[in-house]
Amino acid sequence: MDNEETKAPLPDLVQLITPNYTGPMIQRYFAGAWSMHLPFAWDLIKEFKPEVLVELGVYRGESYFGFCQSVAGHGLATRCYGVDTWRGDIHMGSYGSEIGCSITADTPLSRNC
Ligand SMILES: C[S@@+](CC[C@H](N)C(=O)[O-])C[C@H]1O[C@@H](n2cnc3c(N)ncnc32)[C@H](O)[C@@H]1O
Repeated sequence: MDNEETKAPLPDLVQLITPNYTGPMIQRYFAGAWSMHLPFAWDLIKEFKPEVLVELGVYRGESYFGFCQSVAGHGLATRCYGVDTWRGDIHMGSYGSEIGCSITADTPLSRNC
């Protein structure tokens, strides 16, 4: 049998790497440069409790959604904004509009796709 009911749920990435980890269960790991910093981002938001959070450079949203998860997880009233051209830059190179559109599908960001 190999249906949905018999499949074990996938373990969290952090639990795989460090089984004794007791920090927050981050919902979205994209294996990007921000992955290892997301538990820190969780704590940072918890401590600072910002009224407004603006991220310049969202890309696929790994850090942005990490910030948002902490805002939601701590019941904060922080207003979150993500700003990006979704075209890339001189450091990371250029990319197509599909990245920005995938972000828009998950958030009420104002970009039209
Ligand atoms: C390194 S990526 C951001 C990574 C992202 N924070 C994450 O969690 O994976 C940098 C992003 O900054 C954006 N960017 C660079 N210069 C910008 C500018 N002047 N205005 C808006 N977005 C910009 C690029 O399009 C790119 O998506």
